[in-house]
Amino acid sequence: MPCPSRSDALVFFVNGRKVVERNVDPEVTLLTFLRKNLRLTGTKYACGRGGCGACTVMVSKQDPACQEIRHFSVTACLVPICSLYGAAVTTVEGVGSIKTRLHPVQERIAKSHGTQCGFCTPGMVMSMYTLLRNHPQPSEEQLLAALGGNLCRCTGYRPILESGKTFCLESNDCQQKGTGKCCLDQGEDDSSSLGRNNDMCTDLFEKEEFQPLDPTQELIFPPELLRMAENPEKRTLTFHGERVTWILPGTLKDLLELKARHPEAPLILGNTSLGPAMKSQGHFHPILLSPARISELSMVSKTSNGLTIGAGCSLAQVKDILAERVSKLPEEKTQTYRALLKHLKSLAGQQIRNMASLGGHIMSRHCYSDLNPILAVGNATLNLISGEGSRQIPLSEHFLAGLASADLKPGEILESVYIPDSQKWEFVSAFRQAQCQQNALADVNAGMRVLFKEGTDTIENLSIAYGGVGAATISAQKSCQQLLGRRWDELMLDEACRLLLDEVSLPGWAPGGRVEFKRTLVVSFFFKFYLQVLQELKKLVELFSVPNSRCYPEISDRFLSALEDFPVTVPQGVQRYQSVDSHQPLQDPVGRPIMHLSGLKHATGEAIFCDDLPMVDKELFMALVTSTRAHAKIISIDLSKALELPGVVDVITAEDIPGTNGAEDDKLLAADEVLCVGQIICAVVAETEVQAKRAIEKIKITYEELEPVIFTIEDAIKHNSFLCPEKKLEQGNIEEAFEKVDQIVEGEVHVGGQEHFYMETQRVLVIPNTEDKELDIYVSTQDPAHVQKTVSSTLNIPINRITCHVKRVGGGFGGKVVRPAAFGAIAAVGAIKTGHPIRLVLDREDDMLITGGRHPLFGKYKVGFMNNGRIKALDVECFINGGCMLDDSEQVIEFLILKLENAYKIRNLRFRGRACLTNLPSNTAFRGFGFPQGTLVTESCITAVAAKCGLLPEEIREKNMYRTVDKTIYKQAFNPETLIRCWNECLDKSSFHNRRVKVEEFNKKNYWKKRGIAMIPMKFSVGFAASSYHQAAALVHIYTDGSVLVTHGGNELGQGIHTKMLQVASRELKIPMSYMHISETSTATVPNTIATAASIGSDVNGRAVQNACQILLKRLEPIIKKNPEGTWEDWIEAAFEQRISLSSTGYFRGYKAFMDWEKGEGEPFPYYVYGAACSEVEIDCLTGAHKKIRTDIVMDACSSLNPAIDIGQVEGSFIQGMGLYTTEELKYSPEGVLYSRGPDEYRIPTISDVPEEFNVSLLSPSQTPLTIYSSKGLGESGMFLGSSVFFAITDAVAAARRERDTAEDFTVKSPATPEWVRMACADRFTKMIPRDDPKTFKPWSIPIA
Ligand SMILES: Cc1cc2nc3c(=O)[nH]c(=O)nc-3n(C[C@H](O)[C@H](O)[C@H](O)COP(=O)(O)OP(=O)(O)OC[C@H]3O[C@@H](n4cnc5c(N)ncnc54)[C@H](O)[C@@H]3O)c2cc1C
Ligand code: FES
Ligand code: FES
Repeated sequence: MPCPSRSDALVFFVNGRKVVERNVDPEVTLLTFLRKNLRLTGTKYACGRGGCGACTVMVSKQDPACQEIRHFSVTACLVPICSLYGAAVTTVEGVGSIKTRLHPVQERIAKSHGTQCGFCTPGMVMSMYTLLRNHPQPSEEQLLAALGGNLCRCTGYRPILESGKTFCLESNDCQQKGTGKCCLDQGEDDSSSLGRNNDMCTDLFEKEEFQPLDPTQELIFPPELLRMAENPEKRTLTFHGERVTWILPGTLKDLLELKARHPEAPLILGNTSLGPAMKSQGHFHPILLSPARISELSMVSKTSNGLTIGAGCSLAQVKDILAERVSKLPEEKTQTYRALLKHLKSLAGQQIRNMASLGGHIMSRHCYSDLNPILAVGNATLNLISGEGSRQIPLSEHFLAGLASADLKPGEILESVYIPDSQKWEFVSAFRQAQCQQNALADVNAGMRVLFKEGTDTIENLSIAYGGVGAATISAQKSCQQLLGRRWDELMLDEACRLLLDEVSLPGWAPGGRVEFKRTLVVSFFFKFYLQVLQELKKLVELFSVPNSRCYPEISDRFLSALEDFPVTVPQGVQRYQSVDSHQPLQDPVGRPIMHLSGLKHATGEAIFCDDLPMVDKELFMALVTSTRAHAKIISIDLSKALELPGVVDVITAEDIPGTNGAEDDKLLAADEVLCVGQIICAVVAETEVQAKRAIEKIKITYEELEPVIFTIEDAIKHNSFLCPEKKLEQGNIEEAFEKVDQIVEGEVHVGGQEHFYMETQRVLVIPNTEDKELDIYVSTQDPAHVQKTVSSTLNIPINRITCHVKRVGGGFGGKVVRPAAFGAIAAVGAIKTGHPIRLVLDREDDMLITGGRHPLFGKYKVGFMNNGRIKALDVECFINGGCMLDDSEQVIEFLILKLENAYKIRNLRFRGRACLTNLPSNTAFRGFGFPQGTLVTESCITAVAAKCGLLPEEIREKNMYRTVDKTIYKQAFNPETLIRCWNECLDKSSFHNRRVKVEEFNKKNYWKKRGIAMIPMKFSVGFAASSYHQAAALVHIYTDGSVLVTHGGNELGQGIHTKMLQVASRELKIPMSYMHISETSTATVPNTIATAASIGSDVNGRAVQNACQILLKRLEPIIKKNPEGTWEDWIEAAFEQRISLSSTGYFRGYKAFMDWEKGEGEPFPYYVYGAACSEVEIDCLTGAHKKIRTDIVMDACSSLNPAIDIGQVEGSFIQGMGLYTTEELKYSPEGVLYSRGPDEYRIPTISDVPEEFNVSLLSPSQTPLTIYSSKGLGESGMFLGSSVFFAITDAVAAARRERDTAEDFTVKSPATPEWVRMACADRFTKMIPRDDPKTFKPWSIPIA
């Protein structure tokens, strides 16, 4: 038994190297150990909760039961270091390196353009690598499953998947597999548009270049570990940490003795339940018992009646075990297994399924558990064991509710689970509905089982269990009891629904919200079960020719659509762009799909992000203390307890700020008053991250609540609470026009906010220098000059002492324009006060809480139109929720109003907008800057007009679109020719009209599933509405060896700006890109830069780089003329000899942009990007789920600088837009606390959300003198095209409502979540559910838009 004082040595391997830790701390995770102790920073932190996959590594272990080596992916942020005893870990660094040898996975993801910011890339690489270790030629479905737990916020996943497909068995040259057609076939309807055109390319990379996968080259499992596994040490090992002891017994007997001695100590297996609870909910366990070496817990035994699975088996193993059982037994015996398998496919991501154990899953008894409801209805039994012997208990409702009488006794553990086979006349089904298909916790799930009296449809036994509708899995026992003996018919169905709603009651205030949706699912799921069983019964009766059987009612084909769930399918698609002119020199990279400059380094983990910088001497860590009140006076701040803690050096408050504490209404650190939950009050500085975070818990702040407290736009309007004056644009005579129209419609639109969810959270490292108050700041920002200025005013030192460095940013999307300055300034105050370097890395939870995001919007419209659909007058009023500080809200509302007309020429217009001041964290810039929210109002209005005219929305769009050279509402002239081209090409490429007909045919034939199709045009203006923002500078040095160092004012956010800049420099200097390098963006090399935002980064910086290169080339011209046959190196050498400067700045005095709001006129934007998107979806009216059948995008990139990067921007922003409009939902408590603070509560699209067919075409090039080489900035515009999915969903919902005779005009609400879709498809089930009077309870969450 363990000796309490001595720690054993923890032995494991990392990338083939042995690690022996003699004083290991059990609280340390593998992620921290890799990053801090081993300095392997390729593995990234992005959420810390197992939900994003950025920290994926491969673990290899000898299985104690079958003695085979298993390779499996895990999320290192949830792996306790002690769980790795005897394991081999492979990180991205162990897979390959640009210094030695790239692994094919790394090479292919980079060359297929599967990396943008690169922050998710190591995780993607490791998920794919692990898959290939187990299946060198996987199927595409296996690939999709392997990547299901990895989030990417930039790429839209398509290129990542494309790179993985190159390893797949069935991969061939055609990118349109699965449709039964080749993309290059000419044929009827949709394939016709995909024909080959000589100038058009559909390949963005050369597959032939790829090195083959050679499995013999992989790292082997360390022989030493093999020996350890073959002769396992039976002795109990113990690892003592500062607060926690990890005990690793070698035998079951020892484990049971330990459990008897420490009954409170949890068994730790996957740590996917314990880990998040310890991290986020403050759970603490001084002793952890690890049964990792106990082979008895991994045993599987099969009997003729069922299957016993060891509690220690991972969910991934359970999946394999069940699949094998299903393949061997007749269908009737495998009902329960198949139901479990169904949920095991969508339960979390692959990594979590690899880590989580069956025992841990059952014992965690989460209310959302996907397996427990099925195990409960399937009559599973738990085999328990303790020092006193073994016994069985049923996995019953009482067990799941944690009733002591039905639970484990102290000292007992779960050894295994027995799942009986099903029998003839027994049916088991599983149901679940989540925000997304994959990697999302279910809102409601259910297991249902019915057993009939042999040969009849009389219910002999019925069990139904639900998850997500209470604190635990709930069994509807009473209802089931009452239905015994009933026949399986419509009468029973009605009675069952009534009973179920009565028994499974959910109060209006229930945690998690979505109450009416959940109630509806309770009965909708049962209805699905009813139909499924009816079908099966019919089959059985036919098969066995049962005598005297009743004739089951035919289910009309129209209703069969209720039965099938949407399968997860592997997306396919084509990307088209124009190839460069055949006369263009090979050396000239402009217009070619050049790989991202950092692509390979992203893939090997060698690309350095802010927090990957090594620890500097005497570095301290900072953690932030934020307000827990929405509006309150700060009465006192007691720091004493925090300062007493070991390692704590100081606490920084507003009083420590030597200069200005931000602006009057935007304080860096709150001093007297707080304006929202999440406002920063002070910051702890400590020796380690753990110490700093523990200390913030000890700071006591007392508040006095203040009035008013405003969260919603509605309340802000009521209180006249606004951040800035109203913005208004008007043309024509709107009142008069309304009098002359045939019809008028008024409506409302609500658009929820959006979290940036950049994968790299906000982070900064401030290093104070000893001399002259100089500071070096390494920061993840889109605007280093703003950080520099803010730090200067905060510290009251001149700007010239502060240098901000930005190597690369792990995603920004607007969220790193304004906010990083505050973090930089607070960290700088800490650095100056303590004299130490300060590192500040925000946790995902804090980042989401503090930083704000896209402004939620409430819009009202009144539109007047003729019966033919011609719109004569439009009056729109928009309100955005700005939060508690001004930030960018005034510009956002300006942009929103300027862009609201989108592609339409409407003679009489009035647009008004206001930014509301509320007690929420300040909202800020976000890709599209108001356009994606505002224009949803315009397009919703078009849909409403179409409904009234009995026309298609697309007809109304066409009818009202700009057609000829014209002026916008703010009187800026423009030519809409390209807009019309995009629209027409999209109509053609998507075969819109044919498919519209097919959608209608489908809808006629299907009652419970409906399809919708929508096409959206876009006119998106790039740039800022002020001239001073349109300038850029560059600095280009040529060194004496001929190599060139380029620096410019743009920041690399993943959008490939550095790659594009070198393409420009390469063309101008006429030398290959290999001569060139960009090291970083720094305020010391290019001063006074503007934020890299508004889609014009490459435009303006490209012109500056061009200018610098042209100056240099001009200087070199005489030398070149003299020696035309010379090499670049010769010329440079000669230039140096002749004392010609080989360094030049470049400058671009950009576009003149202005807007006179008084007159309502101006030229605020340099140019427009046009585009169109057509999307088709199918919805499940019973659950609200949808699948994206196809999306076609046509985008006007004019003459793309780099089609791979531009298509990447279009696809990535489209998917991000799709998230905004369909799944991403921020939830706030009635007290203004943001609930959704991680990937589990806030659903950004995953790989399985990509449309099944996803085609992107860049319009054939055209010329514009305005921009560099006639290119266009495509960073933001694709975002709005995501709304085509939204309108396709609402189109499908409208079809359902028409059929059900429900009013067709419904309030438009984005995102169109499953909840919204289900409730909008009103039917007999939505009518059945109880509704609460909102005045009688306090809801769990409040809508703020
Ligand atoms: C990102 C993420 C996504 C997820 N998504 C889903 C989802 O979609 N659907 C879903 O249903 N679940 C989901 N989960 C939850 C997951 O299924 C559970 O966390 C997991 O199954 C718990 O298993 P574990 O081995 O990690 O348990 P651990 O965290 O190691 O342990 C959990 C508890 O079980 C007890 N325990 C473990 N084994 C035994 C035993 N043999 N005897 C007695 N007690 C034992 C421990 O004492 C502990 O209290 C998700 C989790 C994460 C982190
Ligand atoms: S950081 Fe580990 S899964 Fe997100
Ligand atoms: S490239 Fe995937 S998150 Fe940026």
